[in-house]
Amino acid sequence: MNRMLITGGAGFIGSNFVHHVIDNTEYHVTVLDALTYAGNQSSIESILGDRAVFVHGNICDSKLVDRLIAETDVVVHFAAESHNDNSLNDPRPFVDTNIVGTFTLIEAARRHGTRFHHISTDEVYGDLELDDPGRFTESSPYNPSSPYSSTKAGSDLLVRAWVRSFGLQATLSNCSNNYGPFQHIEKFIPRQITNVLSGIRPKLYGTGNNVRDWIHADDHSAAVLRIVERGAIGETYLIGADGEKSNLEVLQIILDGMGQPSDSFDFVTDRPGHDLRYAIDSTKLRTDLEWQPRYTSFAEGIAATIDWYTEHRTWWENDKQSVEEFYSAQGQ
Ligand code: NAD
Ligand code: DAU
Repeated sequence: MNRMLITGGAGFIGSNFVHHVIDNTEYHVTVLDALTYAGNQSSIESILGDRAVFVHGNICDSKLVDRLIAETDVVVHFAAESHNDNSLNDPRPFVDTNIVGTFTLIEAARRHGTRFHHISTDEVYGDLELDDPGRFTESSPYNPSSPYSSTKAGSDLLVRAWVRSFGLQATLSNCSNNYGPFQHIEKFIPRQITNVLSGIRPKLYGTGNNVRDWIHADDHSAAVLRIVERGAIGETYLIGADGEKSNLEVLQIILDGMGQPSDSFDFVTDRPGHDLRYAIDSTKLRTDLEWQPRYTSFAEGIAATIDWYTEHRTWWENDKQSVEEFYSAQGQ
């Protein structure tokens, strides 16, 4: 098996995964990406060449998808509309890409008998109370809250049904919140870092007590590769690195790392339906597939991420004004 089709490979996690695959394996990679506002071809430009090619196209384009999957050994499917706040504003593209796009890909994969790995999120399980000692496991019930997470849940269920009904050779993974280089500045961590770099006060939704379970994107990539190579067909694996932190704690680490006073931020309007807490139990992945995260210090990972955004202003600064206009129109 040596030809890999990576959908959404110009986005945040997809581009980190493309770099990881080129650096650590011998796969020949084709990236399929529609270059929406969230896609940035420059994130993978440095490795395009003999072993990596870029195809500009939509995962809902069944002819294109069929042709590409006919030529591939394994599909790793990252492409999605990924931002909760956008899904609350305009859900339609989430239904199109996350549900119809995934359907288009798995139909082609079943026609060609192609190995398929579906990337998903812990948000399909809904949220946990702050004082709940439990964490999400592979058997947690689906209970999504937002248009984004409900369309991801729908896509997971399609993949599971295609495995059972049609023998699709698929695995699934549901990961917690990622951070690292190449993340769009609409998301929490890069928004706050680029706010400080732009002289704008960071913005914390609601009370700041909501908890996310953070993992470095490179640890996510290594876990996905392990599942592609050793995962059992039909199985779901949760990916997480024991990185639970409140949003306020994360912001304090960013402010400290950037030499800012700890109170130099604003509380702003909360996200409607804002999930309280996510937490992942990744025992199955660690036990069955012997995966471990490499990034054990969140503060060091954040420091490296601050350095990356500081050194790559041209990668993000053209988007800054429109992102902040979108948020300020909603009091955020
Ligand atoms: P992103 O928004 O940064 O990137 C998405 C990419 O998909 C972009 O390059 C975009 O151009 C492309 N795309 C969108 N619609 C497309 C279409 N119709 N056809 C082809 N390409 C299209 O997203 P991300 O944060 O990198 O997330 C990638 C995947 O990982 C998603 O499936 C998401 O649900 C999942 N995930 C994300 C996180 C996280 O913390 N960001 C955590 C767990 C799971
Ligand atoms: O859990 C995995 C999910 O993590 C992925 O499936 C999603 O694709 C990804 O976007 C992420 O979803 P979140 O909604 O958790 O991420 P976001 O970066 O938008 O927000 C993280 C937390 O920070 C959340 O509690 C909302 C809060 N927040 C966000 C922004 C943009 C703020 O307090 N201020 C902000 O400015």
